[in-house]
Amino acid sequence: MKNLIAKKINRLLTSKNSMKIFHFFHYLLGGFNSKKIEVSFEDKKSRLEIIQNIINRKKYQSYLEIGTFKDELFGSVNCNYKIGVDPVSGGNVRKTSDDFFSTNNEKFDLIFIDGLHHYEQVKKDIINSINALNEKGIILMHDCLPRDYYYQAVPRSQYDWNGDTWKAFLEFRVDENVDSYCCYADQGIGIIIKRKNRNKLNIVSKNFKKFNFNTFASNYREYLNLINYDELIQIIDKHE
Ligand SMILES: C[S@@+](CC[C@H](N)C(=O)[O-])C[C@H]1O[C@@H](n2cnc3c(N)ncnc32)[C@H](O)[C@@H]1O
Repeated sequence: MKNLIAKKINRLLTSKNSMKIFHFFHYLLGGFNSKKIEVSFEDKKSRLEIIQNIINRKKYQSYLEIGTFKDELFGSVNCNYKIGVDPVSGGNVRKTSDDFFSTNNEKFDLIFIDGLHHYEQVKKDIINSINALNEKGIILMHDCLPRDYYYQAVPRSQYDWNGDTWKAFLEFRVDENVDSYCCYADQGIGIIIKRKNRNKLNIVSKNFKKFNFNTFASNYREYLNLINYDELIQIIDKHE
C-alpha cells in the first residue's frame, strides 16, 4: 500500500504538466539569471565502469546500491554480495533507504548513493552510509555535477535531472573527518572516504540547503575537489 501511494505521488509530481509548472516557478526564483557549467560527459567513463574497476582493483566483496530504478546498474555490477534498496523498483530490498538503514547491521565495501536526489535525503544517506561502510571501503554518489540551474532545482522540473545532491556533497567537503572528491564523469561521481579531509573546503554556510547555485557554478572545480578518472584510480590504489 505504502509503495503504491509513493508510486502515484511520484508519477503525479513528475508528470509533464506538473514539471512545466515547476519549471516556470524555478525560472522566476533564479533560473532567469543563472549561470551554466560547461561540462560534457559523453567521452567520460560510466558509473558502471568506475564502480566495477574499483571493485576489481580493491577485491571488494560487498556492494550496496541506494536507488536501483530499472537495475541498469545494479543488474550489471559484478560483486560477490549485492544489496539494492529501492521503495519502488529494481534491487532486492523493497524499502526506502531510511527504513533499510534503521534495521541494517551489515557493513559494505562499496556503497553507491543514487536514491532520492533531495539535499535532506542525500545528507541522511551519506551519514548512514558512513556508518555502514567497512574501514577500507568507499562511498560513491551519483549526480554531484549539475550543468545548470534547472538540472538541480527541486522539485524536479525536467526529465534529465541531478537534484540538489551537490549541496549535501558540499556539506561534507567542509567536514574535517571525511575526505571527498568528485570525479568528472557520468553526471559527477562524488567520492567519500573515511579518513581525515586532505583538501578541506574553506567556506562557511549556516544552511547548505540554501547555498546559491551561481556561487557554486563559479567555483565548482574547487568546491567539488574535481578530479579526472586517472586521478581517481590513483587515489583508490593508495587507499588502504
Ligand atoms: C536515479 S534512479 C536510480 C538509478 C540507478 N542507480 C542506476 O544507476 O541505474 C533513483 C531511484 O531512487 C529511488 N528512490 C526514491 N526515493 C528513495 C528512497 N527514499 N530510498 C531509496 N531509493 C529511493 C527511486 O525509486 C528510483 O528508482
